[in-house]
Amino acid sequence: MKIIAAGLLLMNVAFGQTQLRSLRAVPVPEPSGLSEYVRDKASLIRLGKVFFWDMQAGSDGVTACATCHFHAGADHRPQNSLVDPNSPFRVNAELSTVLFPLYLLSDPRNRNSAMVRDSGVRVGSAGTFRRIFEGIVPGQAAELGRDALDKPEFMRGDMQVRRVTPRNTPSVFNTVYYVRNFWDGRAGRTFDGFTVTGANEAEGPGVLVARNGGLERQRVRIDKASLAAQAVGPALDHLEMSYAGRTWPMLAKKLLSLPPLALQKVAIDDSVLGPLARKEGRGLEEQHTYFAMIQSAFEPKFWESSERLNAAGELDPMGEFTQVGHNFSLFWGLALQAYQSTLNSDASPFDRFMEGDSHALTPQEQEGMRLFQNAAGCTRCHNGAEFSAAAFNENGSTRADSFERTGVRPVGDDIGSGNGAFKSIGLRNVEFTGPYFHNGGQSTLEQVVDFYRRGGDFAPITGDLRAFAATPGQTAAIVAFLKALSDDRVRYERAPFDHPELCVPVGHEEDESGELKPGDVATSAAERWRGLAAVGAGGNAAPLQTFDEMLRKFGENGERAHTMNEACTASLASLLGR
Ligand code: HEC
Ligand code: HEC
Repeated sequence: MKIIAAGLLLMNVAFGQTQLRSLRAVPVPEPSGLSEYVRDKASLIRLGKVFFWDMQAGSDGVTACATCHFHAGADHRPQNSLVDPNSPFRVNAELSTVLFPLYLLSDPRNRNSAMVRDSGVRVGSAGTFRRIFEGIVPGQAAELGRDALDKPEFMRGDMQVRRVTPRNTPSVFNTVYYVRNFWDGRAGRTFDGFTVTGANEAEGPGVLVARNGGLERQRVRIDKASLAAQAVGPALDHLEMSYAGRTWPMLAKKLLSLPPLALQKVAIDDSVLGPLARKEGRGLEEQHTYFAMIQSAFEPKFWESSERLNAAGELDPMGEFTQVGHNFSLFWGLALQAYQSTLNSDASPFDRFMEGDSHALTPQEQEGMRLFQNAAGCTRCHNGAEFSAAAFNENGSTRADSFERTGVRPVGDDIGSGNGAFKSIGLRNVEFTGPYFHNGGQSTLEQVVDFYRRGGDFAPITGDLRAFAATPGQTAAIVAFLKALSDDRVRYERAPFDHPELCVPVGHEEDESGELKPGDVATSAAERWRGLAAVGAGGNAAPLQTFDEMLRKFGENGERAHTMNEACTASLASLLGR
């Protein structure tokens, strides 16, 4: 037994990093030169977890990163998630099994068979209402904003609904291994402190460093930091978390005036925040302010100055900002990268099998693995420990930086990274992260395997994708293998995948005739809120619901967690800052 395990290990080394293998042995990529900025890594991770889950971060005072990434790192909301940037669509629709797959053929094995349905609709995630930023009120989570009703796509009649992203939300788990992030890879591998693309090489503001009794500008170039670059995108994006026109110093000024996670309970056995959590009530113990957490995570030269600055970061005795506000996007990006770098799921049955436990996979799962690697050709793009050829090699070089066109939609629908190509995304925990593909077009893994079996849907196809023959038993084996990539810690939300409480908006209220009901702001439709309880290191008793189970309403009797039927315990008045 031992000898076989050693043999397997050698084989994996010999065959290089594109061979399937356990993730446990793969070092977590580290951003370059981090010690220039960071004085304590554990504090940085704590700050990142708070940033990720704090509902107060959104302009509306209720939208966190987690609002779209709470379920195995992805979204799991059944209503107001449909969108079609190219054609009219019904806002606030409820998802159901009859919608899927969005592109339906009369014979799913044959791409030339008669088309039954060709829906350009996509499944995305609801962010904020369309509002213009007008200011903050210190101590209040909800910012001031004025409705902007000029774009009709997220309205019914004169009523606005939350806007929905034009792409499906991927999981944030195991994303640190990617060279670049987003479906189209636009979050580059270099973080410049401010931008998603990292293009801010020569121009741009730079961070402010306290030196020689004054403040000096300094360029930031941090390699292997795509997650930091990614994280500065949604925070000011007026579709995801922000009213149009909010700035970093404004977001900083608001958050620095608020107790972290003030609206949310934190489990006292939370694997990261437990020691900081308030024993009674919500949020953290009083001394753990945002400023204190920044102070313990970052080098003083990035926050110690109390000089007044204007919005452009220039010295101004009348200015309303300080150094900590000007450098906030640097703190935000690096902290979120550090937290998300801990969300790696390397303890699946597949990992145990590759480490030598030959009983970790059933014979069916092993057959699926063989098909995945050979007849079905999946490992041409989903390879290595990450199941993605868009991941780093261990020496930090890029493997293939694989963005391929598999023909999910016509090129003109969404050009992705160019020519309709998208990231060869990793497949770990894919059991829980439906719907699938950049458009959320498939609701089950069986549908995905059928898609590959017929060789994709829309020409042209690149990257050596070939149709293959498979019996129903072989299709089932591939699906069984994909499910063996789930980590039980993800399935039950055990550490490090535990989290604070969260309330999420799940669509809008309609009356009997299907009209949207007005909410607190007359032009915004009333909302339906659902809650997720805080969970500590030990996790939930029930496994997470899958997307297909949600569509079929399976598990609402307590057999599944996150059925999106639990009440939100925080009062709506406090949620909305009124
Ligand atoms: C309104 C919903 C929403 C919110 C809020 C949101 N995201 Fe996302 N996230 C998405 C969508 C949609 C995508 C895919 C977008 C694309 O690829 O064009 C995405 C992509 C990502 C990815 C890339 C994953 C990959 O495989 O490429 C990461 C990482 C991520 N988000 C982290 C965050 C963080 C951190 C925050 C908060 C700062 C956040 N998200 C806020 C919806 C959201
Ligand atoms: C030519 C490269 C290539 C091959 C071969 C390939 N894939 Fe993919 N895979 C991709 C790309 C690119 C995406 C994202 C496509 C999109 O969303 O438009 C993807 C997405 C997926 C997804 C959806 C993941 C999610 O989170 O939405 C699954 C599941 C998947 N592939 C499984 C497979 C299986 C199983 C096989 C073999 C039968 C396979 N892939 C073969 C490139 C490939």
